[in-house]
Amino acid sequence: MKIYKYNIELVPEILQIPGMISINERKFLFQYGLEQYRGLGKIIDLGCWLGATTISLAAGLSKNLKCGEKNKNVVAYDLFTWDQSYNKHIKGSRFENLKLYHNIVEIKRDIIKARWTGEKIEFLLIDAMKTPVVTRAIIDEFYSCLIRGKSFVYHQDFDHYLTPWVHILIYLHKPYCKHIHDVSRTGGTVFKVEKSIPKSVLEIDFMNVDESFADNAFKFCISIASELKRNGIAAAQVMYYIYQRKFEKAFIVWTDHLLRNYELSLDFIEVKKIFDKLVLLK
Ligand SMILES: C[S@@+](CC[C@H](N)C(=O)[O-])C[C@H]1O[C@@H](n2cnc3c(N)ncnc32)[C@H](O)[C@@H]1O
Repeated sequence: MKIYKYNIELVPEILQIPGMISINERKFLFQYGLEQYRGLGKIIDLGCWLGATTISLAAGLSKNLKCGEKNKNVVAYDLFTWDQSYNKHIKGSRFENLKLYHNIVEIKRDIIKARWTGEKIEFLLIDAMKTPVVTRAIIDEFYSCLIRGKSFVYHQDFDHYLTPWVHILIYLHKPYCKHIHDVSRTGGTVFKVEKSIPKSVLEIDFMNVDESFADNAFKFCISIASELKRNGIAAAQVMYYIYQRKFEKAFIVWTDHLLRNYELSLDFIEVKKIFDKLVLLK
């Protein structure tokens, strides 16, 4: 993968779409669609919301001279339901953005219900691993279609404290997927699939790996993350133990990170609020 410089101008149609991804992520995805995608498999966009990721990829692909067939090469999934928490980003839905590039983009809905066709996947963008159940569906449905030596996996929730299974999966898949690019500042990180991930590895219960494996997973993710993402990943480590209801371990990790490495950022405050609530309810 080329080194991304992010010094490109984005077209207005990409900038106009409200979204939860950063400008650098839009530039990365646009450049990927324009310069790197070869048409060996589909581009899958899991959790496209209002289309910021989808349109960035499709706008790049529309100008890609190396890829002949572009018809419905981007497949975007979302529930397309409006959650009140979205109001802080934008008032009222604008799902119609996804009609731009309708020749390139195919829309699908619930990842859990809409089965994948089994076609090869060249780029798997994941921004929908919001619960262990959806995460399991994504692994079962899409991972076996990645192309060894060619495909990329983009984890958009790499710096999010609420999705610690992303970090466990990254470490479980480390022998098969090489980290190649962390989008600078906030947001996602990208891996290349170098070897097929064995079925036995895909089947591992990512919510129940042992403590030393989990601690190493977060240590590894922090080591490959750019500076601004480290707090979110460290807070995700606390969250992993909260989800497992190992409250003592969660508290030790929380204090240890704050004593040794990190400032009391919003991620750590939020994770402690969840901790306090659950410990009080115990
Ligand atoms: C953080 S938002 C995505 C933001 C978006 N990628 C952007 O660039 O602005 C996560 C999305 O995942 C979607 N999602 C969650 N569970 C899903 C499921 N089971 N199937 C399809 N989409 C799902 C939600 O509807 C939501 O729009």
